Amino acid sequence: MEMPDRTMRRQVLLFISILSLASVLCQVSYSIPEEMAKGSLVGNIAQDLGLEIKRLMSGKAKIYTRNTDEYIELSRERGVLLVKERIDREVLCTETALCALHFQIILENPMEFYTVTVQITDINDNSPTFEINEMKFKISESAISGAKFVLERAVDLDVGINGVQNYELKPTDNFALKLHNNADGNKNVEMVLQKPLDRENQEQISLVLTAVDGGEPQMSGTMLIVITVLDANDNAPVFTQPTYKATVTENSPKGTVVATVTASDVDQGSNGEITYSITNTLENVRKVFEVNKENGEVSLIGNIDFEKSRHFQINVLASDDGGLTDSCKLIVDVQDENDNKPEINIMSKSTVISEDAELNTVVTMINIEDKDTGENGNVKCFISENLPFILKSSTNNFYSLVTDSELDRERASEYNITVSCFDEGVPSLSSSVTLTLQISDVNDNAPVFERSSYEAYIVENNTPGLSIFTVKARDADWNQNARVSYILEDSSVNGVPVSSYVSVSADSGVIHAVRSFDYEQIKDFHFRVKAQDGGSPPLSSNVTVKILIQDQNDNPPQVLYPVQTGGSLVAEMVPRSADVGYLVTKVVAVDVDSGQNAWLSYKLQKATDRALFEVGLQNGEIRTIRQVTDKDAVKQRLTVIVEDNGQPSRSATVIVNVAVADSFPEVLSEFTDFTHDKEYNDNLTFYLVLSLAVVSFLFITCLVVIISVKIYRWRQSRILYHSNLPVIPYYPPRYSDTLGTGTLQHVYNYEVCRTTDSRKSDCKFGRAGSQNRIQSEKNILDDPDSPLEVRLNKQGIKQL
Ligand SMILES: *[C@@H]1O[C@H](CO)[C@@H](O)[C@H](O)[C@H]1NC(C)=O
Ligand SMILES: *[C@@H]1O[C@H](CO)[C@@H](O)[C@H](O)[C@H]1NC(C)=O
Repeated sequence: MEMPDRTMRRQVLLFISILSLASVLCQVSYSIPEEMAKGSLVGNIAQDLGLEIKRLMSGKAKIYTRNTDEYIELSRERGVLLVKERIDREVLCTETALCALHFQIILENPMEFYTVTVQITDINDNSPTFEINEMKFKISESAISGAKFVLERAVDLDVGINGVQNYELKPTDNFALKLHNNADGNKNVEMVLQKPLDRENQEQISLVLTAVDGGEPQMSGTMLIVITVLDANDNAPVFTQPTYKATVTENSPKGTVVATVTASDVDQGSNGEITYSITNTLENVRKVFEVNKENGEVSLIGNIDFEKSRHFQINVLASDDGGLTDSCKLIVDVQDENDNKPEINIMSKSTVISEDAELNTVVTMINIEDKDTGENGNVKCFISENLPFILKSSTNNFYSLVTDSELDRERASEYNITVSCFDEGVPSLSSSVTLTLQISDVNDNAPVFERSSYEAYIVENNTPGLSIFTVKARDADWNQNARVSYILEDSSVNGVPVSSYVSVSADSGVIHAVRSFDYEQIKDFHFRVKAQDGGSPPLSSNVTVKILIQDQNDNPPQVLYPVQTGGSLVAEMVPRSADVGYLVTKVVAVDVDSGQNAWLSYKLQKATDRALFEVGLQNGEIRTIRQVTDKDAVKQRLTVIVEDNGQPSRSATVIVNVAVADSFPEVLSEFTDFTHDKEYNDNLTFYLVLSLAVVSFLFITCLVVIISVKIYRWRQSRILYHSNLPVIPYYPPRYSDTLGTGTLQHVYNYEVCRTTDSRKSDCKFGRAGSQNRIQSEKNILDDPDSPLEVRLNKQGIKQL
């Protein structure tokens, strides 16, 4: 096919050449493709020019060209044009679509020249190429669809159909290719974003742009397009959880990390940099918690008190630099710690309770409060043991302190009750309160005397009003209930109300003597004193007080014998024949006092003849101490002093007349002189008158006395009928024991009995009494001071 076509074209060109040759010069044109092998035939120039080979030879035909390179050579022998050098149209003509070699063939002899034009036609020997084999783009993922990106054009050295005809872009996920035909026939290549990019999905995209030409075979060139997707802040931070939970113990130290919240942002760089913050509007949360801006650690900056808030809800915001945010909740549960002591509130209390309060009397009501919860808030209360109280628990932490046993103010007047409360936390906290309770008095104790009975002594002859003694009673109660008054209980002593003996001072218990006591009348007595307190009703007790009266030597001895009668003179007879030691008589005396005060001693005070008689110191016996002689006077007068042993001692004297004679007449004659004793002469006249009066008086009373005596004797004889006791010779009325104590009477009787029964001398006294006794009316005058005197006169002389 090619050959006929080429032949025909040659013919056309030959024709034209001939036409021109005919005018000026002959012109031949050929057309060959580029890149023909060396020696390839370009055209049969001899034929085409109508020249013979000989001519060419002779004419030394040669090619003339201005170009340095000769692509075509002339073969004179063959009369053809051959390719001398490789012809590259692209080198020869670059882009020019019509590319031709122009040269002349010159002949000599005759000179002739012919213009030859060799047209070089293009063959597809170049593929499209890109100047750079990689193009880089940085496109933000936020780029919108329709964004255009200009791409490098491909270059194909070939021309025409062999030039770049089309482009292709692969893959076409995000971009499409758009070609614009330029006026110069070139195409502008653009890449258009069709689907938005997502850096988070694909950070780098590689595309291949292929340029193809229209040659046969088709050739292509490629270029790599690398797109780096730039981040846009198109992603908000996202928390890993919408809600976080954490617990924190109250009182945790500042800085304790409670929880960590985490948000992530898939964006890059600053778009992915997250800042945390707390957004709670309530201040309390922001005062207590803070969140670390960078790492989301939520930590404490304030005190956590379970008792104030048990939960916190913290709103945490995460934001990236681009201002996108997410939020989450952090719920913090506060755990209780045993940090509150139990509080003891006294709702009501009595400070005083009566000692007779009944059991279960409520003293104090207490309310316990512990702000902690659970075990930490479970409180138990106790009081110390060994108290008469118990703590009763009622519902809801109310306690009442009630009495548990009987109270006794006298044992304990005050209680300090310590109430201690403990919670059950670990460690347990406690608190305590001390209640002071006074026990008020009730009159439940009677006064008690210090002793079960009292004995007191008082010396007789006291001054009335003298305080003898003090009784004392104590009352264990208090104040008025313990105010003791002393009261003398009514009783009688010897028929006389005791109040006439003693009085008791109500306040002090001092016992006063109301009268002067006489030991000889009353030796002791007793009475009761009552002690009564001031309570209502009053309580009392009593005690026996015995008062013993002590003797004083207030009585002188009393001489019972010889009787100092008023009317007669008595003399003891001592026969002249009496031996030494002859018992003349015995002075009998008593002392109504007692003890030492009644211990009598006898002494001879005066005697007519001291050498003849002696008196027994203890027994009062008067005995002769030598043989009586005839020279001794008949009339002997002895003065015996009887002294008691009291301090000071008291004494009495008695005159004993002794007649030393063998017969009565002798005595009588002598004794008439007795009356003439010098010491009585002075009063003789007075005594004579008195004697007469006495005798007259005696005469009148004698009748009465005799009758009385008769009756008395008769009685006495009846009483003593079977007794050997002799008749008591004298019994002074004063000695009668009106009190019935009998003390004196015993002593007296004893003396008398001893005197009459147990001694020889006494028997004599009994027998000789009537015989030897001589009475003298005047003798009574011997001791005018004698207390016996008046009584003797009144009573008469029983013995007579
Ligand atoms: C009770 O306490 C008070 C004050 O501490 C104290 O004076 C008093 O003696 C206490 N009483 C008793 C019975 O312990
Ligand atoms: C005196 O006390 C005794 C008990 O010590 C009592 O039996 C008697 O009744 C009391 N007498 C009077 C008069 O109160």
